[in-house]
Amino acid sequence: MKKILITGSLGQIGSELTLKLRKEYGISNVISTDIKSVDNEITGDGIFHILDVLDGDKIFEVSKKYGVDTIIHLAALLSANGEKNPKNTWNINMGSILNCLEVCRELNLKLFVPSSIAVFGNTTPKDNTPQNTIMRPNTMYGITKVSGELLCDYYFEKFGVDARGVRFPGLISYMTLPGGGTTDYAVEIYYKAICDKKYKCYIDENTYMDMMYMPDALNSIVSLMEADKGKLINRNAYNISSMSFSPKEIYSEIKKHIKDFEIEYEVDPVRQKIAESWPNSIDSSCAKDEWGFKFEYDLNKMTIDMIDKISKKIK
Ligand code: SER
Repeated sequence: MKKILITGSLGQIGSELTLKLRKEYGISNVISTDIKSVDNEITGDGIFHILDVLDGDKIFEVSKKYGVDTIIHLAALLSANGEKNPKNTWNINMGSILNCLEVCRELNLKLFVPSSIAVFGNTTPKDNTPQNTIMRPNTMYGITKVSGELLCDYYFEKFGVDARGVRFPGLISYMTLPGGGTTDYAVEIYYKAICDKKYKCYIDENTYMDMMYMPDALNSIVSLMEADKGKLINRNAYNISSMSFSPKEIYSEIKKHIKDFEIEYEVDPVRQKIAESWPNSIDSSCAKDEWGFKFEYDLNKMTIDMIDKISKKIK
């Protein structure tokens, strides 16, 4: 990657990825974009454009203007929000991937599209879920993610577009809040533990889902995009995970540091149903073998860092 255009730069992944790539690839080599603007370091300290991902001509124009060689397409509606307006979710998630693929085909660019554990469904094996297995999701978000993977494969096979992706688990971070996902509880719980010493959890205490700390997620994007093309077999998209835990386990981990932290459960049936349809833990071995996926943070190490960073942030 030399000149990178990011969509959804103000989102949970985009905000941190923009800063990391500016540092690693140079401030003038990262073109950050989002549908709206706010006053912060993403929009103020580097290149930033307002860009609607449903406007394919504008994606083309901005990519061409800057001589972009890679698009990292992060803008999307997540699982829980997606269920509020399924048609809109299909239109935004699929329309935007198609637009990015077309621009990459026309300008010969590389593309990263994140997929998700949401590609899996109730009929998928739940434990150590293989890379290649049954994928019959029951959320519109999951349907768009499976379809996105297939579309990226199609553009690679038919037009040679170098599209790559990973199936992200729930991502935990302190800089920008996630928006409307099922795994968001694992971020909220830290804020509530620190600010209120109590948390009302919408996921049942014994439901396991895969998770990952943001620094590992960002490194995985860079590693995959810099990997030797010839080694990629499962290019769209790789299972990756660094931990799997239940609300009960993350609560106990946080309680080691915040002794008077209390949790209660008020299960939201919509998000609980989604969580139960996803794996307990996925197998990341193809990502490890094909491009050297690795991670640094487990639940213990992440919890220490999250508590430290959020405590400083809210001071
Ligand atoms: N974190 C996402 C969600 O919960 C999963 O990709 O929707």
